[in-house]
Amino acid sequence: MADHWIENHKRDSWRRQAKSSGYRARSAFKLLQIQDKFKLIREGDVVLDVGCHPGGWSQVAVELVGDEGVVIGVDLEPCQPVEGALLLVGDITESSTQERILGELDNRIINTIVSDISPDITGNWDIDQAVAMTLVADVLDFSLDLLCKGGSFTTKIFQGVGIEELIEAVKPYFSEVKRFSPMASRNSSSEVYLVCRNHMPWVKREVSIRETYELLLDKKLNPEEEKEEQKVFTSFRVRKKK
Ligand SMILES: C[S@@+](CC[C@H](N)C(=O)[O-])C[C@H]1O[C@@H](n2cnc3c(N)ncnc32)[C@H](O)[C@@H]1O
Repeated sequence: MADHWIENHKRDSWRRQAKSSGYRARSAFKLLQIQDKFKLIREGDVVLDVGCHPGGWSQVAVELVGDEGVVIGVDLEPCQPVEGALLLVGDITESSTQERILGELDNRIINTIVSDISPDITGNWDIDQAVAMTLVADVLDFSLDLLCKGGSFTTKIFQGVGIEELIEAVKPYFSEVKRFSPMASRNSSSEVYLVCRNHMPWVKREVSIRETYELLLDKKLNPEEEKEEQKVFTSFRVRKKK
């Protein structure tokens, strides 16, 4: 009970701070704290803000990129305008939304992708976790090709099954992949941010990140099947004549 009270108090305190500083959501402080640690967004950058409603992260991004920068946000929900940002309404996994983003980019490459995306919660933890992870993998599959050399991709993920596999699937494309929990994240929540820095676009993707992730997860969840496959393989191996 006491822990619960402390958490609610902390959450309200971030909410109050957001209100007094003009940010629309307390989540703005999460991005500020991520920025403070990793210096992801620079002046003049092109930033894609995925899952941007109500616009707290876009407000922060606009401040950081300055007049020369570009901020494009996308969300299922329409946002009140944020001066200096272009906020689109659409599902990031749908090709019509992806085409609109590409149109707005107009051949510019992205320096920083920030994603605070969270799918609708059903209340079934396993389902919610699985949907959230595949959504992140889909966002990566769409946006990675648009990211510049040395660029960064930061996304919210939820602690639980599949986190190690997602990290494994994304690691080849960045020289640094770290988990970070900003102070403004509720302690009671399992959310954590995956910060991937220094994109290496020369590493080609033969298989999508989603497929790689699902394959790794399947191996983890069904280790016996894996062993069976190996057994079959060894029993058919050509043996040397003595
Ligand atoms: C936690 S909120 C983001 C808060 C935001 N970073 C801010 O500071 O104002 C997560 C958002 O992800 C959005 N979302 C979930 N699935 C999506 C999808 N497939 N495409 C676009 N947005 C999505 C939700 O509509 C929701 O508004």
